[in-house]
Amino acid sequence: MRRLLKYARRQWKLYLTSAVFMFVGIYFTALGPRYIQKIIDTCIVDGKGELFFSIAIPLIVVYIVAGIANYIQEFSSDCISSAMQRCLREETFRSILSEDQYFFRDNNPGELMSRTKQDIETVGFTTGFIFMFFLYIVIHVAYITYCLIRINPGGALPALIIMPVIAVLAILSEPKGDKLSDKRSDDIADMNQSATETLGGIRTVKAFGMEKEESKRFDKSHRSFFRHSLKLDFLWANWITPMEALARIMVYLAVLFSGIQVIRGKMTLGQLSAVTSYTSELSWPMMELGWLLTEFAAARASLRKISKILDAKPRIKDGPKSLEKKSGDLEFDHVTLEVADGKKVLDDVSFHLKPGKTLGIMGATGSGKSTIANLAMRFIDPTSGSVKTNGVDLRDLDLKSARSSKAIVTQDIFLFSDTIVSNLDKGQKGLLTQEELEDAANDAAAHEFIAKLSEGYDTVIGEKGVGLSGGQKQRVSIARAFASKRPLLIFDDATSALDMETEKNVQKAIRHHRNLTMMIIAHRISAVRDADEIIILEHGKIAERGTHDELMAKRGIYYKTYMTQYPDEMEAI
Ligand SMILES: Nc1ncnc2c1ncn2[C@@H]1O[C@H](COP(=O)(O)OP(=O)(O)O)[C@@H](O)[C@H]1O
Ligand SMILES: [Mg+2]
Repeated sequence: MRRLLKYARRQWKLYLTSAVFMFVGIYFTALGPRYIQKIIDTCIVDGKGELFFSIAIPLIVVYIVAGIANYIQEFSSDCISSAMQRCLREETFRSILSEDQYFFRDNNPGELMSRTKQDIETVGFTTGFIFMFFLYIVIHVAYITYCLIRINPGGALPALIIMPVIAVLAILSEPKGDKLSDKRSDDIADMNQSATETLGGIRTVKAFGMEKEESKRFDKSHRSFFRHSLKLDFLWANWITPMEALARIMVYLAVLFSGIQVIRGKMTLGQLSAVTSYTSELSWPMMELGWLLTEFAAARASLRKISKILDAKPRIKDGPKSLEKKSGDLEFDHVTLEVADGKKVLDDVSFHLKPGKTLGIMGATGSGKSTIANLAMRFIDPTSGSVKTNGVDLRDLDLKSARSSKAIVTQDIFLFSDTIVSNLDKGQKGLLTQEELEDAANDAAAHEFIAKLSEGYDTVIGEKGVGLSGGQKQRVSIARAFASKRPLLIFDDATSALDMETEKNVQKAIRHHRNLTMMIIAHRISAVRDADEIIILEHGKIAERGTHDELMAKRGIYYKTYMTQYPDEMEAI
């Protein structure tokens, strides 16, 4: 709420414009019935027809001014809605980007998309248009009531009795609308999520013939949305029908009351007409009241959801220090990572990767290898122990320093839908020469196939361009790491999608970069055998460590793995 006020304050000029024209509009609209009263009383009842134009022409001017004022008021409150949406959207998106991995595990992309679109639209619309409209109605009703009483307190009586009844009924039916809107906004998020997931994995869906199941899954959230929308419509219909009846009764009673007064000679015919017009002017806002309250309820539900995102404090935060010079140094000092159920994903892992050295990590799936990479990048923090670079705990460094000396290539490759050049350039922001780019691509065994593409390095890849094979994508992502010129490269199973031949070439290139520090996580012995130290992980613990020769001599896990991967060499040893 405080946040909304902060944004609203920034739009004060628009609010002011809208408010000023609102007053002008209301004042001029309320003048209309007075002129008509005058026409009836003077020109018709008193028979002074010659005065007609002197009253009717100002009346037209009054209506034109009221129309223009209402137009400006409405337009400026629409502008407020858009401006509020923009502020909210900017902050929400920035806040989402600053979140850590824990956040993204709890909030799926479909839900986040729904929050940044639908919910922000709802809140923006309500803080601008709906809020101003509500204000309009309140002032309009107050002023028109005042005009009514001024003409004849008796004629105002029906309105004064029935309006509060409608208002109370509106407020009473509102809490249900709140809950339903809340559910409906969750339905939209579910639909979004289901669609993003299905479309993102469309190949798997088709391959396994899961179209029906996926369609059912979508239908489920869609049906729930439909049900809640219907209930809201039902609530609305239940509300509007009796309200319309009440509003009509209000006008009938006004005619009746005033009619009696006219017959008794206590009121003129013109006044009767004015009372009737004013009472009608009071009836439409009453009917809008229900709609307004529903919109407020929807906005409250949406705001709650957006606030949850904005208030989420990332657990991975900047530390006070910063690194002056990039360094490949990386030390794990008795690092343990426990997850929710007390399971130790990593258990007392220590190593020191010195600049220019290579560390190989092997281990079964689920043994904690990627977790080491995530800790090194500070995507997560250890439960105990510390991850350091140059002797400084990563938690004491700002995130930029903690990450900018490392480039990571992961199992799940991500390339932007953009040209190859701009994909390779990501870490450098356009500072690389063509030669440097080609060098990096060469080292990743990618230059050859890139050169063959229709537009070479300027070929657009990804969703909007040329499709690359898994191995080609992997090589581009490796080239990106080389091109980043960061001193520490982390390869997390990065060469697994390559064929033996290409992998060998990449490995050769990796060895060629002797000045770099490297952490190579792999399944194949060939990828790590030249490393200065090799660590074998088992259930999060270091089971074996040493150089290739030392580990072979140990005849432990590493040796066994070697034997399964190179059965032909059994005799040679
Ligand atoms: N944040 C987490 N919460 C719960 N379990 C986790 C978390 N991170 C990793 N794990 C679990 O820790 C184990 C090691 O994961 P990972 O490091 O990805 O293994 P590897 O890369 O060696 O295959 C897996 O069993 C995984 O399910
Ligand atoms: Mg892994």
